[in-house]
Amino acid sequence: MKEYEKKKSFNIGILKGDGIGPEIIDEAIKILKKIGKRFGHTFIFERGYLGGESIDKYGVPLSEDTIELCKNSDAVLLGAVGGPKWDNITPKNRPEMGLLQIRKAMGLYCNLRPAVLFETLKDSSPLKPEIIGNGLDIMVVRELTGGLYFGEKYRDNEKAYDVLSYSRKEIERITKKAFEIAKKRRGNLISVDKRNVLDTSKLWRDIVNEIGQRYTEVKVEHMYVDNAAMQLIINPKQFDVILTENTFGDILSDEASMLTGSIGMLPSASLGDGKASLYEPSHGSAPDIAGKGIANPIATILSAAMMLRYSFNLSKEADSIENAVKKVLEKGYRTCDLYKEGDLKVTTSEMGNLISKEI
Ligand code: IPM
Ligand code: MG
Repeated sequence: MKEYEKKKSFNIGILKGDGIGPEIIDEAIKILKKIGKRFGHTFIFERGYLGGESIDKYGVPLSEDTIELCKNSDAVLLGAVGGPKWDNITPKNRPEMGLLQIRKAMGLYCNLRPAVLFETLKDSSPLKPEIIGNGLDIMVVRELTGGLYFGEKYRDNEKAYDVLSYSRKEIERITKKAFEIAKKRRGNLISVDKRNVLDTSKLWRDIVNEIGQRYTEVKVEHMYVDNAAMQLIINPKQFDVILTENTFGDILSDEASMLTGSIGMLPSASLGDGKASLYEPSHGSAPDIAGKGIANPIATILSAAMMLRYSFNLSKEADSIENAVKKVLEKGYRTCDLYKEGDLKVTTSEMGNLISKEI
């Protein structure tokens, strides 16, 4: 009996979060349930709380209970956090801090953000057809638990700082992950830094070169971050894997995602060396459209597919979700972020139902 044919049970931690988080997570759960039925797996969902919903319930953006739940799950699926309701809370307790804390607590130093342009959505890309050619497939590998986000911080009324620091160990482990990924893709890795100015970038580049010597099958190049931002627009096809530190990765992954038409399409996976990984859409909580049933659930549904592939080794099941998304888009169904005249406009849950039907 092949691995994927074995009936198996998986515990999935669910963090719906704020804004559109609950709506899009519900659709991803719908899809996972369908996969379970169709392929004979049991998915057990257990809910934790993160961000604003956790502030409302526990007074903090991330509770010990939720950390426990996540660490003990086989994988975690997260919606999005944040919203105007919690804007006036002290910075240390804002919803976003919950997200940073859970990444740190679970040791999720490797954030994968694939930017793939679906053939059917070519017209939605802001780039000209001659620039995108027959599609884009870029994997941003973003370091997720170091750099400015987690360095020493200080602020008074006259002065403030955030320290940017990276250790050899932190750079080595993310670099190895990026090379492993590049090896399985088109064998092209572009490491993005700011070596002309930053010492952290000097260390970063040296270590990438050192590790690169062990991966002769991967071609390594280096690019300054300002140039990379420009190259993504003028020649995105040169990119296969982009490896970069936390802040640069935050910015470049948003840029890369928009090249594919809508940030509502892009999933992400956050991996570490521990048991559980975390999967979430690359977009935010979009409080302006929350509760209206118009959010695009595809990024979250594709994040669930990444979970099946990376955490549970269920690649056939992951393919089945990705193909279902493709088919529904080919039939012309669009949520309003992608809707153009002539398309079939659908709500969040209708989109989930249509994808479920194709599985
Ligand atoms: C992201 C988000 C977060 C980040 C915010 C919400 C803290 O922008 O996941 O890209 O900066 O990492
Ligand atoms: Mg971001």
